[in-house]
Amino acid sequence: MKSVTAIVGSYRKGGVTDTAVDEILASAREEGAETRKIYLVDAHIEFCMNCRKCTRQEGLRRGECCIDDEMGSILDKIELSDAIVLASPMNFGTVTAIMKRFIERLVCYAYWPWGMHGPKIRNPRKSKRAVVVVSSAAPSLIARLMSKMVGLLKTAAGILGAKTTGVLFIGIAARRPEQELSRRTRKKARSLGKKLVS
Ligand SMILES: Cc1cc2nc3c(=O)[nH]c(=O)nc-3n(C[C@H](O)[C@H](O)[C@H](O)COP(=O)(O)O)c2cc1C
Repeated sequence: MKSVTAIVGSYRKGGVTDTAVDEILASAREEGAETRKIYLVDAHIEFCMNCRKCTRQEGLRRGECCIDDEMGSILDKIELSDAIVLASPMNFGTVTAIMKRFIERLVCYAYWPWGMHGPKIRNPRKSKRAVVVVSSAAPSLIARLMSKMVGLLKTAAGILGAKTTGVLFIGIAARRPEQELSRRTRKKARSLGKKLVS
C-alpha cells in the first residue's frame, strides 16, 4: 500500500489550503493509499541555528540535528512515505513563516563541512512523488508570476527525495472567512491526488 504524508503550512485548519490538501488526500485514499497530515502549526519545530553539526556528518543519510524537537520524527515519517504534499498559503509573497522554518531545517540533507564552498545534497535520487499546493489572495496567474514560492516548495520536495508531479495554485483565496474550493479546483486536487499514488 502506498503512503502519502502532507505537510500543511497554513495557520488555519479548515482553510483553503487545508481543504485543498484534504481533497488530494481523499483522492489518494480512494486509490488505496494511506494518508497522514501534519500541521506545522501544531508541531514543535525550532529554528535552524546554523550550528552546522548535521551538515558536517558524512554519508547519504541525513545528518543528525542536535535540536530536541519533533522535526526528526516528522522527517522519519516523510522518509517512509511514497509521496508527499507540501502546502502553504502565500504570505508576503512567499511561504508562511512556519513552512520556511520547516524548510530551513532540511539542511540536514546536505553535506557541507566548514571550508566547503556550498552545500551538496547528500542523495539527489528522487524516488518519491510530490504535489505542491499554494493559495493566495491575488489571482493565481499574477501571484505565481510575482513569487518564487512554487520553486521553493519544489526545491524542498526535491531535498526530501521527491519529484514534483503537480502544482495546485489557488488564487483569490481570501474573499470570505470560510471559503469553499471551486469545482474546478476540487477536480484538479482530486486528479493530482490520484496521480500522486497511481
Ligand atoms: C500575513 C499575511 C500575508 C499575506 N500576504 C499575501 C501576499 O503576499 N499575496 C497574496 O496574494 N495573498 C497574501 N495573503 C493572503 C493569503 O495568501 C490567503 O489568506 C491564504 O491563501 C488563505 O489560505 P488559508 O485559508 O489556508 O489560510 C496574506 C495573508 C496574510 C495573513
